[in-house]
Amino acid sequence: MTAPLRQEPLRLGLCGCGWVIRHCYQPALAELSALFEVVAVFDPDPAALQRAAHAWPAARRCDSFEELLAAHPDAAVIASPNACHLDHATALLAAGISCLVEKPVVRDTADAALLQAAAQSGAALVSGVACRFRDDTRLWLDQVALLGPLTELDLVWSREHGVPSAPWHLRRADGWTGVFADLGYHLLDLAGAALRWRAERIDVAMVQRASQRRGAGASWYVEGSKVRAGSLAYDTDDRFGATLAVDGCRIGLRVAWIDSARGDLVRLEARGARGEAVLSGLFGFSDNRRERDQQVVLRLHGRDKIRTTFETGPELQLCAFATLLRHFHRCVRAGADEEAAALRFAAALGGALREAAA
Ligand SMILES: NC(=O)c1ccc[n+]([C@@H]2O[C@H](COP(=O)([O-])OP(=O)(O)OC[C@H]3O[C@@H](n4cnc5c(N)ncnc54)[C@H](O)[C@@H]3O)[C@@H](O)[C@H]2O)c1
Repeated sequence: MTAPLRQEPLRLGLCGCGWVIRHCYQPALAELSALFEVVAVFDPDPAALQRAAHAWPAARRCDSFEELLAAHPDAAVIASPNACHLDHATALLAAGISCLVEKPVVRDTADAALLQAAAQSGAALVSGVACRFRDDTRLWLDQVALLGPLTELDLVWSREHGVPSAPWHLRRADGWTGVFADLGYHLLDLAGAALRWRAERIDVAMVQRASQRRGAGASWYVEGSKVRAGSLAYDTDDRFGATLAVDGCRIGLRVAWIDSARGDLVRLEARGARGEAVLSGLFGFSDNRRERDQQVVLRLHGRDKIRTTFETGPELQLCAFATLLRHFHRCVRAGADEEAAALRFAAALGGALREAAA
């Protein structure tokens, strides 16, 4: 009997090599050298390109996006500013290069149609929504599946003060920037996972957007001389709220970069015919917690509640990037059907909310 051949790692390109690549993907990729080999890096900022070339000395250092395309990696992580995602992803997918696209991936169904057409090449498209791959979220989603048909989802991610300070985040860009595109995209994705990506009928009851146009930057996002944690001026939305119904499930969404309540909070509440599952604590890298514990609580009718606690701090978020990359690897090798459904769901809900907010 012959031993199975060890599969070669996927040859990976990086498009945009800023904060999220340095702080989240670089440590994850260091763990996953059997799955990925970084062969090409591109960033138009010479300092960012230099840092990436230093981190992956064997990778081709590309001075343009066209050079990255020409290097023809098997797969790419797109971590450029949000407004570039669609152009980068369509070009890479059309060339047969599988893409993990950082969120936000689509604004509406027109964006999704462009990506789906490009992916006819056979390349895989995976949404870069690390929060779905956190251990606490995965437990919450397992518990949500026990609740029967969902009747309510209330999803909140609120920061007391945490405007991401990269200059492109601060400028309005046709739906690509602002708190909904940033934190809201994660909540859309989690609503989709909770509803198993089904959205036959969407009724938007209310959308509220607001901006105080000046606020404190996210402290963990400060880096080098590029950004400051102090007061930032911006013209994007810093608060967004919506109420809608999807196939009979009422969904409340609320995200804020700036909030008058003290401390930062993530709270995911799901209710169904058989009980409720609630995740409470915080996601991401802020240590300004509103609630001390990170926990998931399941209450099924007629049974004791089951409370599971998790470590606080950024470790769960960092581990989620390694899990996301493993998922990407599987999708490239074996197909990405669930990801196509996730994309359709985000496009349908995102588009409905965008239309209602216009
Ligand atoms: N999933 C998460 O938890 C998470 C966290 C942070 C950021 N992100 C996402 O990652 C992406 C990057 O965010 P960031 O925080 O690293 O921002 P950043 O500004 O630090 O990095 C973006 C990089 O892209 C480069 N760039 C600019 N124009 C480009 C172009 N045309 N082509 C290629 N690169 C270009 C910039 O020079 C910069 O180095 C965003 O889409 C953001 O939403 C996700």
